[in-house]
Amino acid sequence: MTDTLLHKRTILITGGTGGIGKQTALALARLGATVIITGRNLASAQTAAEEIRQASGNPQVDVLAADLSTRSGVKAIASQYRAKYQQLDVLINNAGLAEAQRRLTQDGVEADFAVNVVAPFLLTQELMPCLQASPAARVITVTGGSHSANSPIDTGNLQAEREFVGLNHYSHTKLAMMAVMYEFAQRVAGSSMTSNVCYPGQASTAMTRSVTPDMLPGVARLIWPLFKWFVRPDGGKSAAKAAQSSVFLASSPAVESVNGQYFNTRCQPTEWPKAVVDPAIRQHVWATVEDLTRSGR
Ligand SMILES: NC(=O)c1ccc[n+]([C@@H]2O[C@H](COP(=O)([O-])OP(=O)(O)OC[C@H]3O[C@@H](n4cnc5c(N)ncnc54)[C@H](OP(=O)(O)O)[C@@H]3O)[C@@H](O)[C@H]2O)c1
Repeated sequence: MTDTLLHKRTILITGGTGGIGKQTALALARLGATVIITGRNLASAQTAAEEIRQASGNPQVDVLAADLSTRSGVKAIASQYRAKYQQLDVLINNAGLAEAQRRLTQDGVEADFAVNVVAPFLLTQELMPCLQASPAARVITVTGGSHSANSPIDTGNLQAEREFVGLNHYSHTKLAMMAVMYEFAQRVAGSSMTSNVCYPGQASTAMTRSVTPDMLPGVARLIWPLFKWFVRPDGGKSAAKAAQSSVFLASSPAVESVNGQYFNTRCQPTEWPKAVVDPAIRQHVWATVEDLTRSGR
């Protein structure tokens, strides 16, 4: 262990078995936190945890396993957490999904929407008692995809009911997630809790390496060879760099009471896309997601 900045802090990172989440877990373990990672498979999560213990010198690395694409999986992670720990100081909603084909989960929810939007919402709600037990809890959610300030949120196509183009839909679900987490930040404003979103930047990970040309919108397929070159395996180097914004938000005293901000790859607050902060849109997305967590459909 190289530092004890986060000694006595307990941090839960979804999707910590590989890619950016694993590098985030490693960096925070090196800072002395108790780190809990999640993955779908218990054995591979345990292997990742052991690698993080070895590399960080911090024995306080634990695992929880369940599939976050289903309501029952999210609830299982939360109840496993609550059974072992009372307090949660930092929740990093990092796990993400970009499917090549439109697919429904066993709850009947489109899979990207389930993992990228419903899971962060539901997990945060389910862990509220533990977050409220912390004197200064931080909720951090990792976004992705390509957005501009004017990227729209199409409330009639949230689950790609009308149209599905892999990476466009993935980006759209991340925008929807940002709207939900922005709304969440407004709801917890003034409490001991903060909620911020960060953009990690491009990294070579299982997710980006599994992108197929048909996931790109028509004209963007022309840059396919360039995309493949960017995501060539690099031994986790780019993922470690991309972990920096989550690590900053989880550990820096400078953001102790900063709430409702969107951080870029340089760990600086940046402007939210307009649709994300639009009250009618964000409340619509919030209500849609809340409804899905009740009914599972
Ligand atoms: N890589 C990039 O260039 C990039 C760019 C911008 C944003 N991001 C975002 O950064 C985050 C991390 O992405 P990454 O590139 O590091 O991806 P990754 O290497 O594919 O890792 C994804 C993690 O999420 C977990 N996961 C995926 N689906 C899950 C499910 N249904 N239930 C539970 N866990 C699940 C995986 O665990 P198991 O497979 O072990 O279950 C894994 O630990 C995502 O939110 C992504 O959208 C990535």
